[in-house]
Amino acid sequence: MSDYFNLRSLKQGRLLEQNLRDQIQLHDRLQELEDGSVEAEKLQEQLTKLQRQKLEYLQHPFQPINIQGADNSIELGQTENGEPYRIPLDQLTKHSLTVGETGAGKTNLNYLILQQLNQQGIPFWVFDVDPEYHSLLADDRFEDVLVIPWRHLKINPLYPPEGIRPSRWIQEFADLFGESQALISSRNLVYRVLSDCYSAQRMNPDPQKVPDLEILEQQIREYSPRDHVERGYRSRVRDRLETINEATGPLFDCRRGIPIRELVNRNVVFQFDGLLDDAQRLVMETLLYKLHLYRHQQPVTSQLRHVTIIDEAYDMFPEEKEDNKKGQPRINVILKRTRKRGNGILAADQEATKLMESLKANTATKILLPSTDEQQFESMSRSIGLDTEQKEWCRNQLETGTALVYNRATGLAPVDIPLVKPSEGEEVNIPAEMGGEWSELKKSVVSD
Ligand SMILES: Nc1ncnc2c1ncn2[C@@H]1O[C@H](COP(=O)(O)OP(=O)(O)O)[C@@H](O)[C@H]1O
Ligand SMILES: [Mg+2]
Repeated sequence: MSDYFNLRSLKQGRLLEQNLRDQIQLHDRLQELEDGSVEAEKLQEQLTKLQRQKLEYLQHPFQPINIQGADNSIELGQTENGEPYRIPLDQLTKHSLTVGETGAGKTNLNYLILQQLNQQGIPFWVFDVDPEYHSLLADDRFEDVLVIPWRHLKINPLYPPEGIRPSRWIQEFADLFGESQALISSRNLVYRVLSDCYSAQRMNPDPQKVPDLEILEQQIREYSPRDHVERGYRSRVRDRLETINEATGPLFDCRRGIPIRELVNRNVVFQFDGLLDDAQRLVMETLLYKLHLYRHQQPVTSQLRHVTIIDEAYDMFPEEKEDNKKGQPRINVILKRTRKRGNGILAADQEATKLMESLKANTATKILLPSTDEQQFESMSRSIGLDTEQKEWCRNQLETGTALVYNRATGLAPVDIPLVKPSEGEEVNIPAEMGGEWSELKKSVVSD
């Protein structure tokens, strides 16, 4: 009976825990009875049955899942009994995290999800870093896919989202700039300089005069620091803005850029390969904040309206962001709030250990793909709450094409995932004029 006390009663192991508790009770009762009595024989039979069940659990340490209907759900594949593993769409508003090493099948799984979102009419964005997703253009099943290489993208992070006052947006921007650039202590400086830009317009900002990143750089240069600490912040922010402005060419050189409302109902692949990391994080966070604030003006809903796939989640959710002792990072707040607006985030990465704890805590779906690195495996197993037997099973059985999937509504199960990703090397031409249709939103031409 000592094994009972050694077993950890984690939430997924409850079945086993109950089984062992029942065994102890039967065992105790049996000791009180006479050997060979009718009752003792019956109890012995029950005990044998429980022991068999325990053995089965140890060989296959998963409880039956809660099979969901096909409507309003997506199917990730089949469990070992050939049953479909489906996740209700509204669970996707509660976000999802996929972890697996390179080649484990993360992008394939994302493709599978995108195909079904497309069938169900849920628009999506993909933040594509590698780039891996432009082949969606060649897939006839997707009627509307807009692939925007960053060189064709137009965005002014300082331009407030529709319906948001500039005075509110500069607070958000100061946070998002500080966090995305790991220059958190400089947020007050950025805020002050931007407020000065607007106070020159007597708190009645002229939308025609919204600054862009170049104007911000210039204003930071001209700003007189209050003390040597602020002087340090000023030079760091100035250097960063200078690098970003130099490296990004026309990306930020616009007064407004593509309005979110033009993108929110379309399937968009944002391609970031070759873009400076600092600029990439700034663009991704700007898009996510703006999407959230755009939706914030619409009623609260539990229904899924939109999905953003972030295939290298570390860029946006690095654990370092949680080092800031002055409260939680803004991106956490967005993660928690945006679900009430129907915006789901599907994050994927190779290294769970480097991701923010709150991303692991605030994702209702967790998908573990093969991870031979023990630290990454442990980190993800802990966040799913796997027991010892389940971890052992994963170590031996997970391979490309199999995932351990956990969802709060559906349950935990190994799932065979079909291969749907197009084979590599298929040439897809990205029309060069993709970003061109937004050219009227360039700084010089626009009137809004
Ligand atoms: N579900 C699957 N079944 C069979 N093979 C798969 C599956 N998923 C991925 N693969 C194979 O593994 C390769 C890498 O998959 P990919 O999704 O690009 O991995 P990752 O994005 O994790 O690096 C694919 O090109 C494919 O050959
Ligand atoms: Mg990939």
